[in-house]
Amino acid sequence: IICQMPYRLFCLLMAAVGIQAQQTPSINDLNAECLGNVIRLSVAPLFEEVDAVFNDTQIINLTPGLATQCGFSFKFDPMGNAMLFASLQNCFSQNMDDKMFSLVMQFRLPGNHMTEDSVYRVGKTCSYTPWTSREILCDRNYMEASEMALNNVRLLTILFNSCFHFLRQAVASGYKMTVVFSPSKNVMNVDEVQRKGYAIANTPTRLVLRSPHNAEETYLQNVAGVPMRVLSTSTFFEQKWLVTRVDATAVCPTPVAFTPEVITWYMPKHIDPLFSSDAFTMLEVYMGIDAKRLDIEEMAARNYSVLVTEAHIIVEIPVGAVGGYFKSHIQDDQYFVTYTIEPMLELLWIEEVAHENTSYKVLFPITTPPMARPPQVRNYTVPEQAVFVLELGTFNLDVELLNITFPTMVLTVAECNARGFNVQEQRSPDNTLKTFRMEVPFSDPVVFKERRAEQGLTTFTLQLIYGLVIFPEYAPFSHSAVVDAVLLDIVPPSVTGNCDQENFHITVDYRNQEPFFVVLVGKRLLNHEFAQQYLTEGDTDFTITLPFSSPDAVFESVHSSSVRSRLDVALLNPYNNMTIKYFSLACSFLKTLTECFSNGTMTALAVKVESAPGLNPGQLTLSDPACGPTYSDARFAYFHFTVNSCGTTRKFINNVMLYENEISLPDELEVKLNATTLKVSCYYVANITRTLAFLTRPRDKPFAETGTGRLMVRMRLAQDASYNTFHQEEDYPVVRYLRQPLHFEVELTTSSDPKVALVLDHCWATLNEDPMCGLSPDLHPISHLWEILARMITCLLSLSGPCSVSLERNVCCIKRL
Ligand SMILES: *[C@@H]1O[C@H](CO)[C@@H](O)[C@H](O)[C@H]1NC(C)=O
Ligand SMILES: *[C@@H]1O[C@H](CO)[C@@H](O)[C@H](O)[C@H]1NC(C)=O
Ligand SMILES: *[C@@H]1O[C@H](CO)[C@@H](O)[C@H](O)[C@H]1NC(C)=O
Ligand SMILES: *[C@@H]1O[C@H](CO)[C@@H](O)[C@H](O)[C@H]1NC(C)=O
Ligand SMILES: *[C@@H]1O[C@H](CO)[C@@H](O)[C@H](O)[C@H]1NC(C)=O
Ligand SMILES: *[C@@H]1O[C@H](CO)[C@@H](O)[C@H](O)[C@H]1NC(C)=O
Ligand SMILES: *[C@@H]1O[C@H](CO)[C@@H](O)[C@H](O)[C@H]1NC(C)=O
Ligand SMILES: *[C@@H]1O[C@H](CO)[C@@H](O)[C@H](O)[C@H]1NC(C)=O
Ligand SMILES: *[C@@H]1O[C@H](CO)[C@@H](O)[C@H](O)[C@H]1NC(C)=O
Repeated sequence: IICQMPYRLFCLLMAAVGIQAQQTPSINDLNAECLGNVIRLSVAPLFEEVDAVFNDTQIINLTPGLATQCGFSFKFDPMGNAMLFASLQNCFSQNMDDKMFSLVMQFRLPGNHMTEDSVYRVGKTCSYTPWTSREILCDRNYMEASEMALNNVRLLTILFNSCFHFLRQAVASGYKMTVVFSPSKNVMNVDEVQRKGYAIANTPTRLVLRSPHNAEETYLQNVAGVPMRVLSTSTFFEQKWLVTRVDATAVCPTPVAFTPEVITWYMPKHIDPLFSSDAFTMLEVYMGIDAKRLDIEEMAARNYSVLVTEAHIIVEIPVGAVGGYFKSHIQDDQYFVTYTIEPMLELLWIEEVAHENTSYKVLFPITTPPMARPPQVRNYTVPEQAVFVLELGTFNLDVELLNITFPTMVLTVAECNARGFNVQEQRSPDNTLKTFRMEVPFSDPVVFKERRAEQGLTTFTLQLIYGLVIFPEYAPFSHSAVVDAVLLDIVPPSVTGNCDQENFHITVDYRNQEPFFVVLVGKRLLNHEFAQQYLTEGDTDFTITLPFSSPDAVFESVHSSSVRSRLDVALLNPYNNMTIKYFSLACSFLKTLTECFSNGTMTALAVKVESAPGLNPGQLTLSDPACGPTYSDARFAYFHFTVNSCGTTRKFINNVMLYENEISLPDELEVKLNATTLKVSCYYVANITRTLAFLTRPRDKPFAETGTGRLMVRMRLAQDASYNTFHQEEDYPVVRYLRQPLHFEVELTTSSDPKVALVLDHCWATLNEDPMCGLSPDLHPISHLWEILARMITCLLSLSGPCSVSLERNVCCIKRL
């Protein structure tokens, strides 16, 4: 029952750390030692129940109450070790003449559902001699006084030879034994003493009295400033005519004070309740741990110190020193540790008059109050490695990591490792502390990512709650943490630029950071060759110089004497091609694309502008579609022509001659390709004196050439002299009075030759359709004119096609053709 709970819990721990729980202990795991008046059994692993084996036959289960009453104590440390301490004068050891003591204990390990319980027996025989007259033993749960009672024992031989025997036979013995407790003066017989949890026994030479520390009859006394618990008794052995009295007193210290760094334990040098006079001299002082004495060297190595002053024996043990252990605790989900160590002091006094020695042994477990030790998450993340590296600690070895809760899921340690988080337990060099290390790649979905493009950085955040547990009691607790890491995509570089007459100059300042980008100039990546050709480097910057006509630039627009050209520069993140910085510079460059030579030659350069992306400059022509470029490529078309060709027109404006032509696409392409027409022109000053040399070949004499052709004329009769309105076809016949004037308009309708002009000289009318109506030129008195006109009108009205007008001998004759 004592050990049941711890055992179960340790089983869980072992399963968690992978030790086979079925592993059964060998008998070697039960290590028995004689340590003066104490037997120590070290037991690992833990047992579930412990029994005392009395006189080889009786098996008595050691309950906590019985253990206290009978002189047994246990110690469990969190590592799964247990120790059993038994007073030599415990209830169940076989006492051979107060010199040899034989103890047999039995430890039971519970089987699982497959196996029986395993039972281990360990026996140990210790010799202890000589006893001092008085021996006081303070253990964790009881105080024991053992007084020499040689005379009484002789009188009362074989009355009680063991505690257990005593329990059954004391009353039947016929001797009366009473105990008087001080200072209460309560008198109890043996039965009452036993019932109240005390133990009383006599051995061949001694009387043993044992009491739990807080028993009713104990009391607190301040001894040299140290509170101590005292049990003070007188035992009377009564036979018919004889009463013998044996006084037995036990005095044990109560818990001590200490500072966080050092445990300081004050023991009085002179324990008043034990000694009636001052005639006691302290002879020996020993210190030990877990009931075992240490020598001076061992104590020094462990930084223990024992100082004997006028009034005290002062034991100092640094918190954390070897020999003790830390234990984890959880209070309000806060992590605490306590440090526990079980020092022992053995003191020996001599009473100088009677030369009686008193030996005093105290096993004194000291546990510090809980010391907060908040776990820390240490962040060993190097953002560039894109992995969170975290270490949670520091914990005692009794803490295990079970699981980790992420915002989206809970993963056990095994699942974490399967996911590649590489959860590792790390021990301190002295193997007393542990931390849990873990690596979580930024790319894992449990990591929250937030990109801030404008700052060129990404923030990675990991939120986690570590689920931990303390063994053996399986106390769960948690620790939450948020870690983040910022990965700079780049330090935003600055890009600036300007233009001179020919070139763009773009400066990229990467500000003392390693350039962490690639440069896209126009549509071209700035590679090594490109850089060699156009790039000059500064300390923290570089400058790209490109001519305005570079293929990497685009032409925005073209004017008669300038070209607007633009260069786009982008800095890209090489990992994802995201734009870190965009920069665009447009400048107008003074450029005459048209050249005029005095020999009458014109050249013109047409460029492809951005707004006509589909344009093929090779398809451009001058006004005369037959005049294409003399040279063209994807961006340029170069024209070379003389001013009197290719549809070039000429205008005289004051004293200049303006030659103009147009570069354009054939009509059907022009709209489709969004191209515009480019006017090219040349001015020549007309009154500039040029000296020209030329050869002439004289001609015989100037002559006019005759030629034939067709002219179209129209003749209309106006309604009056204003010539605003004309008679329509349906008005005819038009009636006029004699002598009333008729107003005709004669018009030359179409002529391809601008030099042809129509001049009316003579007009006449005939009565028939033949204009050569035989009228003699001189015969045109006004009186005949009507008739002539009437004929002419008739002729005209019947005309449905063009007429010919001829001038012959001052007579105008209209002829139907
Ligand atoms: C111990 O056992 C033996 C026999 O095994 C017996 O003779 C003896 O009386 C027993 N002693 C006590 C004190 O019970
Ligand atoms: C003992 O104390 C010294 C000085 O304080 C320290 O350096 C040393 O590590 C300690 N030894 C142990 C075993 O704790
Ligand atoms: C008391 O103890 C001292 C030191 O151990 C020893 O020399 C002496 O003989 C003892 N005296 C008696 C009476 O036991
Ligand atoms: C995670 O571990 C803790 C122990 O600290 C436990 O209480 C909790 O139930 C565990 N959660 C899951 C989902 O296993
Ligand atoms: C973790 O470490 C990284 C890199 O040293 C640092 O940038 C980040 O701010 C740290 N995060 C926390 C929460 O301490
Ligand atoms: C970035 O763009 C370049 C050129 O377009 C291409 O070769 C490269 O594969 C791209 N890189 C990424 C990460 O998309
Ligand atoms: C006119 O002069 C220009 C420039 O000197 C020359 O390139 C071109 O061939 C000349 N044209 C003719 C027809 O001589
Ligand atoms: C055509 O050109 C105009 C101006 O030059 C521009 O605004 C427009 O976007 C262009 N259209 C296309 C289809 O390129
Ligand atoms: C040409 O003629 C104009 C007027 O017709 C006159 O103003 C100008 O000065 C003349 N230029 C030269 C070079 O003779």
